[in-house]
Amino acid sequence: MTRRILIDPITRLEGHGKIDILLDDDGNVVDAYLQVVELRGFERFCEGRPVEELIRIMPKICGVCPGAHHMAAAKAADAVWDVTIPPAARKLRELFYNAHIAHSHILHFFALGAPDLLLGPDAPKAKRNILGLVELVGRDVGVDVFTHRGYAQRIQGMIAGHPIHPVAALPGGMSKPLAESDRDEIEQMGASLVAFGERCLALWDDAILGRRELVELVTGDTYRHETYYAGLVDPDGKVNFYDGQVRVVAPDGSRFAQYEGADYLDHIAERVEPWSYLKLPYLKQVGWAGLVDGPDSGVYRVNSLARLNVADGLATPRAQAAYERMVSVFGGKPIHHTLAFHWARLVELMFATEEVLRLATDPEITSPDVRVVPTARPGEGVGVVEAARGTLFHHYVADSRGIARKVNLIVATAQNNAAMNLSVKKVAQATIRDGHVDEGILDRIEMAFRAYDPCLACATHTMPGQMPLEVRLHHPSGEVLTLRRNLDHT
Ligand code: MG
Ligand code: NI
Repeated sequence: MTRRILIDPITRLEGHGKIDILLDDDGNVVDAYLQVVELRGFERFCEGRPVEELIRIMPKICGVCPGAHHMAAAKAADAVWDVTIPPAARKLRELFYNAHIAHSHILHFFALGAPDLLLGPDAPKAKRNILGLVELVGRDVGVDVFTHRGYAQRIQGMIAGHPIHPVAALPGGMSKPLAESDRDEIEQMGASLVAFGERCLALWDDAILGRRELVELVTGDTYRHETYYAGLVDPDGKVNFYDGQVRVVAPDGSRFAQYEGADYLDHIAERVEPWSYLKLPYLKQVGWAGLVDGPDSGVYRVNSLARLNVADGLATPRAQAAYERMVSVFGGKPIHHTLAFHWARLVELMFATEEVLRLATDPEITSPDVRVVPTARPGEGVGVVEAARGTLFHHYVADSRGIARKVNLIVATAQNNAAMNLSVKKVAQATIRDGHVDEGILDRIEMAFRAYDPCLACATHTMPGQMPLEVRLHHPSGEVLTLRRNLDHT
């Protein structure tokens, strides 16, 4: 006989989910599942629509990741028409996209991740949010965060029309070049973002590495799994958000595979389980061994830490220095510690801001040559980018008129689904004793999946809303204890 604890829905992630924890007669955890209980069917209602419209429709999946879907869709559409975009268009997309990554990482770290770490799991619930964080770190830091997230949003809007509803990418390039006055403003914001990125890394050093209990939490075993990792790398093997080949490394850090995004079906299979609408992608060549880690399990992870684990470094100096320091603290790669996703996010924020500044000062960035009009007969195309949350695939099959007949998306959060289940179970087993659950324990369990920055809006392609949290203990006697709380998720 088992008892069940249900955390439903989880707070501070995008979209709805719940956690179901099964206890034995002694009140210890025998199993735990992250369940996603929404279905939207976004792929199906994109079928039958012109592929060029999908570039503007796909960003509506999610209000947090629209830039990622805009880019993946644009790249898939380029491939459908077999068109190579002009260099200036690629640079504009990369400038837009690095600003998008910067915005997302700033949002996640300060609104979602940092309250867990800096305020700690035992802080009062009312304080464990961005307002409590501002109270802790000071109003000036809060203003700094909002200012620079605003810059990252403004840059996206200047290039793509609107940060949340980007429209500028078209098959073959971009709809408009960048004006010199806009470039000049982006350069100024970029310089400020670089300095902000450095302050964020310094904050990590002071506030996390300067506190022994937090170092133990981040480097300890409770939040640790030995899995495969996947992410895009550029031709030099460096991290790239916009383009590259997918590299996969094994739990021992050895290169397992490297492939073009168009070949993803040779490498990724999707497991469907009856308890969740969210599929469980795994490495086809390793196979599905269940919800377990290790070299014989096809479970792999994506997102910031995965990107740093697969890559040979980062192409900008400040980010590279931050990366080297992080690797040295953990004593080498791969880094298997789940809470290190937060640190990796700040290293990537540094990279994204340096890229914004570099691209804003590229002489070609204001070139009027931003589009090649496609002339080929439409066919099939795959677009792959690194969303802030991990590798994102868009796959369209068009008919001869360019109407999408088949649409497949594999989003980042789905690829982390199996690993998030592992992480939730491990923390639940480490913290729940004799069926005892309190707020601090629930917070520690939530910290396990929140490090992955999951976006269930993207994953099930549904809309985020209110984030109540429900915990249900199912006792062998049939008694059900429900704990419920409601929180805004940002
Ligand atoms: Mg899909
Ligand atoms: Ni999303």
